[in-house]
Amino acid sequence: MLEGKRIVLGVTGGIAAYKAVDVCRRLVDLGAHVAPVLTRGAERFIGVATFDALASERTQRSLWDEESPIPHTRLGQGADVVVVCPATARLLSDYRTGRSGDLLTATLMATRAPVVLAPAMHTEMWEQPAIQENVQVLRNRGVVMVDPEPGRLAGGDIGFGRLARTESIVDATVAAAHGRIGDLAGLHVLVTAGGTREPLDPVRFLGNRSTGKQGVALAREALARGARVTLITTSDLTVSPTLRTVRVETADEMHEAVHAHVGDADIVVMAAAVADFRPAREAGQKLKKHDGPPRLELEATTDILAELGASKPPGQVLVGFAAETADLRANATAKLAKKGADLIIGNDVSAPEVGFGHDTNAVIVVGADGFDKEIPLSDKREIARAVLDSALDVRTRTGRDLPKFLETQRATTARGDGPGTVTRGEQL
Ligand code: CTP
Repeated sequence: MLEGKRIVLGVTGGIAAYKAVDVCRRLVDLGAHVAPVLTRGAERFIGVATFDALASERTQRSLWDEESPIPHTRLGQGADVVVVCPATARLLSDYRTGRSGDLLTATLMATRAPVVLAPAMHTEMWEQPAIQENVQVLRNRGVVMVDPEPGRLAGGDIGFGRLARTESIVDATVAAAHGRIGDLAGLHVLVTAGGTREPLDPVRFLGNRSTGKQGVALAREALARGARVTLITTSDLTVSPTLRTVRVETADEMHEAVHAHVGDADIVVMAAAVADFRPAREAGQKLKKHDGPPRLELEATTDILAELGASKPPGQVLVGFAAETADLRANATAKLAKKGADLIIGNDVSAPEVGFGHDTNAVIVVGADGFDKEIPLSDKREIARAVLDSALDVRTRTGRDLPKFLETQRATTARGDGPGTVTRGEQL
């Protein structure tokens, strides 16, 4: 996912510096060329040798490197992304005000690449108005902030300010490396994931092979691109605590949860494998073998996607999935009309490495207006990127972004910034 991308990994002096080692390793695993830059403060927490061993080149610490003159311009100009993890209060302040007293801040000044900052500090510091203002100013300048999470802090305190989990930092870096920076900001994306389980008795259920990997990849991608995300899932796979996750088991529970959260959703992706039928009755006690094979009477569940399609608000983009084993294009296209969806993502789950349980998928994306795209076998995260790109494409092509666009433009004019000062993409 990061093949051919050059990433400068800045590490500053906070206890979370040890977690940057994991970020470094994950970025290298994804194919990136990682150049670590440590501040003097970082070196008090973590050894240079660790990064030397894991990264793609020697760790750099000084502006005055005899072997490589002007290292900050080489690093800054060559980078596809600069990520700072952890970013201390001082780094935020220096970057905001344009101070460039060491190699890392000078590199930040010498780059035009996207910048991802993952702040980490004690709750009291994080909540300081000065720091919050720095964060807001940097965010407004287009810097990607991976907000800290609640949890255990240095010294045993519990609170807000802990470095975001590695996955969230890596996700944001991948999205930035592919130019998807905040393009879903201000949007509510609702994703369903996993296979439903329909109980037969207290210990048995009717289910399917879906594991939720594709739905979770969609939620992570949407989150990394700045969306407010609701994930309704049957799967145990965890995502960031900053993502609203609703755990359900049955088709009925999923139906209820979708209705509770879909109200203001701009993009809905029904990636879950929802049962079409459930046992008409759930036995109160475990079915016993000596009673012989049970007769299963099934009844239909509600088709959630079709119901959403029938009552879709004008601004919403509705995306469904079609897991097929034959006639992929014909079946996916037929489901577009049947379900009232804008896009159907069809996959042939009988093909090798495709669909249920795999980390990879291969899909076709068909749209109500003739949209047709094929995405060959790729990591599920790359499929997620293409699905959300397609949903955004439908949104802009059909003018469904317009009400929000106008709202934002009105707000901008009221602030006196003038309507022409911000591009349409930034406003959204
Ligand atoms: N879906 C749903 N509610 C259901 C069943 C399915 O919302 N009760 C959604 C799935 O999340 C998926 C899409 O509908 O996005 C496709 O479901 P699928 O089972 O393939 O469609 P069916 O209409 O049941 O067609 P088939 O005859 O192929 O089973």
